[in-house]
Amino acid sequence: MKILVIGSGGREHALSWKLAQSPKCDQLFIAPGNGGTGEIATNLEINLKNHQEVIDAVVEYHIDMVVVGPEDPLVNGLVDDLKAQENLKDLLIVGPGKTGAVLEGSKQVAKDFMKKYGVPTAAAEVFDEETIEQGYKFLESLKPPYVLKADGLAAGKGVLITESLEEAKQNLDDLILHKKFGDASAKVLIEEFLKGIELSVFVLTDGKDYVILPEAKDYKRIGDGDTGLNTGGMGAVSPVVFADDEFMKKVEEQVVVPTVKGIQEEGMDYCGFVFIGLMNQSGEPYVIEYNVRMGDPETEVVIPRVKNDLVDLLAAAASGKLAGQKLEVEPYTAATVILVSGGYPEAYEKGKAILFKKPIKTVVPFHAGTKLEDGKLLTNGGRVMAITGLGKNMGEAISRCYKAVDLVEWEGMNYRKDIGFDLQKLGQ
Ligand code: AMP
Ligand code: GLY
Repeated sequence: MKILVIGSGGREHALSWKLAQSPKCDQLFIAPGNGGTGEIATNLEINLKNHQEVIDAVVEYHIDMVVVGPEDPLVNGLVDDLKAQENLKDLLIVGPGKTGAVLEGSKQVAKDFMKKYGVPTAAAEVFDEETIEQGYKFLESLKPPYVLKADGLAAGKGVLITESLEEAKQNLDDLILHKKFGDASAKVLIEEFLKGIELSVFVLTDGKDYVILPEAKDYKRIGDGDTGLNTGGMGAVSPVVFADDEFMKKVEEQVVVPTVKGIQEEGMDYCGFVFIGLMNQSGEPYVIEYNVRMGDPETEVVIPRVKNDLVDLLAAAASGKLAGQKLEVEPYTAATVILVSGGYPEAYEKGKAILFKKPIKTVVPFHAGTKLEDGKLLTNGGRVMAITGLGKNMGEAISRCYKAVDLVEWEGMNYRKDIGFDLQKLGQ
């Protein structure tokens, strides 16, 4: 099978790494890929905003299956455009069409969907320019902290949480009146604050059946001890100690089953991953958000724990044949540490030479913001590389990660030094 992976991050490198291990994968392409993906796949220089370029590549390279990594092309209808091609009727596609991707593209639609199908989530109200006065009043009726969410895609920055009522009102103004995220914040959800510990749950569905992939915990803040600004994710671990059988049974019954039922009943065009961001509040799951893709950096710990042939699994999903598929999970623990550019998540420089003091053997370095220029590996983004370590327990996985992190160097490199430590304290 000839496979094309869409995207350029650590998530896509990890998916490609796993796909490349399958005997069913004859040729692997990635568009656009990064400085590391060229070792296992052919990087295709494609502008993902131009769907015709993707369609042309699928035709030119006789692609049998397309796996879409990031949310933007999904929300922007890449899958719909591929499906509209008369000459690509047999193409297998992993990723929802627009009618499914709206679960990530609009937080209001997602919230209405959750209410309709009885999925536990925080109570919320929606406001816009016309109803902003009611928004202020609603804020006054709530207790802090105040949670405000831009309705549309805001590159992971659309959630603003504050203890101060004045600041919450200011945030509402910034989002709606000052168009902080353009049209994406024309509507804003004001939501009840959930207190607990977060978990990322991943489901692969063909729109009617599903398998639940290993769960993960993401470390979102830039600083040790969960301090400082939010980032795209600074590390992840899998499994997660508090996601025990009892909790995961609740997640499956109360969240996954009604979600897949809703997808089916709404007639959404959905084949692919559903990433469910959950809060474990006193042992009960509440959905914070849906994403219509895998998480990054979660993929870098989830995928190495999947034992199944990923080509088989994804092809089954893409052809509506997930029924009866069973997930087999590797018994080890995975941890990943994200190496970032100095200054990230604020302004940072690119183009720094990356040095490996020794080759990394015990772990898999998944590249994200890297590029190869004249044979030299350079930084090319905020999140540069995900160093994944595997071990028989959390302690071993983490210590392998950090030993490997010590082998990588560039000017300004930064990373969190406490990935997984909180879970070790909980006994993992
Ligand atoms: P999101 O961009 O939707 O992933 O949200 C970013 C982060 O905001 C989440 O990972 C949570 O840490 C936090 N968050 C979102 N909604 C809530 C909520 N209702 N209560 C508490 N924290 C929340
Ligand atoms: N790690 C969070 C995300 O991928 O959205």
